[in-house]
Amino acid sequence: MTLTVLFAASNEDWHNYSRALNKAFTEADLNAELVTNAPPDDVDYIVYAPTSALQDFSPYKNTKAVLSLWAGVERIVTNDTLTFPLIKMVDPGMTQSMVEWVVGHVMRYHLGMDSHIVNPRRKWEWHSNPLAQERQVCILGLGSLGTAVGNQLRRMNFRVSGWSRSAKKLDGIETFHGSDGLCDALATGEILVLLLPDTAETENTLNRQTLAQLPKGAFILNPGRGPLIEDAALIEALDSGQVAHATLDVFSTEPLPQDHPFWAHPNVTVTPHIAAATRPVTSAKEIASNIARGEKGEPFFNLVDRARGY
Ligand SMILES: NC(=O)c1ccc[n+]([C@@H]2O[C@H](COP(=O)([O-])OP(=O)(O)OC[C@H]3O[C@@H](n4cnc5c(N)ncnc54)[C@H](OP(=O)(O)O)[C@@H]3O)[C@@H](O)[C@H]2O)c1
Repeated sequence: MTLTVLFAASNEDWHNYSRALNKAFTEADLNAELVTNAPPDDVDYIVYAPTSALQDFSPYKNTKAVLSLWAGVERIVTNDTLTFPLIKMVDPGMTQSMVEWVVGHVMRYHLGMDSHIVNPRRKWEWHSNPLAQERQVCILGLGSLGTAVGNQLRRMNFRVSGWSRSAKKLDGIETFHGSDGLCDALATGEILVLLLPDTAETENTLNRQTLAQLPKGAFILNPGRGPLIEDAALIEALDSGQVAHATLDVFSTEPLPQDHPFWAHPNVTVTPHIAAATRPVTSAKEIASNIARGEKGEPFFNLVDRARGY
């Protein structure tokens, strides 16, 4: 029997993914046809991005799972017409990209690169940088991305801590969890990295109260999602020096509006949601192997918990 896999994403995504997906299906011994259009009753799986016109899943009575091309599923998880399993993207290529983005920006702060590289007044100012083992990096969110980032920073000798919803044991990483653990986690956030999903519970995780729990002069990296931070509270914390600098990759409104104060703030770096794109070749293999699991009656990897929202 030939499986019908509906590709529901943008035309650009089709251009980028179709060849990689077809190759991955062949390599996984899947007899699957990748299409952009099919009668809903015939569709076995849907490869999906929220940029697709498909928003009503109710006609897809025989579909076994939706496989998201994105790691963040906040734009699909609340869709009540989706009643079958939703699988989020966990992609080794994306993970590597996130690790590289975070490590690069952590090193900018750690080495004080701005004062040496951007030095318009030609000041000969000598500072001895602390070593990595003297620098604390805290990661809010210890999922697939936060854990990979934490492990890499630990290998580089940083003192790494992290915070998650459930308790975790990770080699060499100090862990905190739950709302009771947030305050202690933030106190370790000399450099704070946000890798939480966007859910009702994580909205405004960084607000006036929580920003005040960070060590004075903390640095913030947000490659997670914009709503994790209350923008006005961050601007206040930057103006007061409570936060020394923030590098923000994601925003509540994207593209970041031209009149948003983040653009003009001297202590904010804006990057245009580039930290970690899904990579077609590596992600196609993950999609194919998850479909193969489904066909063998094995549980899917990376299922979204609809009640939790991630
Ligand atoms: N900027 C980019 O280019 C880019 C690219 C990819 C992903 N992202 C963002 O990165 C996010 C994280 O991705 P991921 O794959 O690592 O997600 P994940 O595997 O689902 O991990 C999410 C982590 O957040 C924790 N968490 C969730 N709700 C929480 C709460 N209320 N309190 C405390 N901790 C909570 C989870 O705790 P438990 O471990 O206890 O469940 C888990 O450790 C995505 O949701 C997406 O928004 C951004």
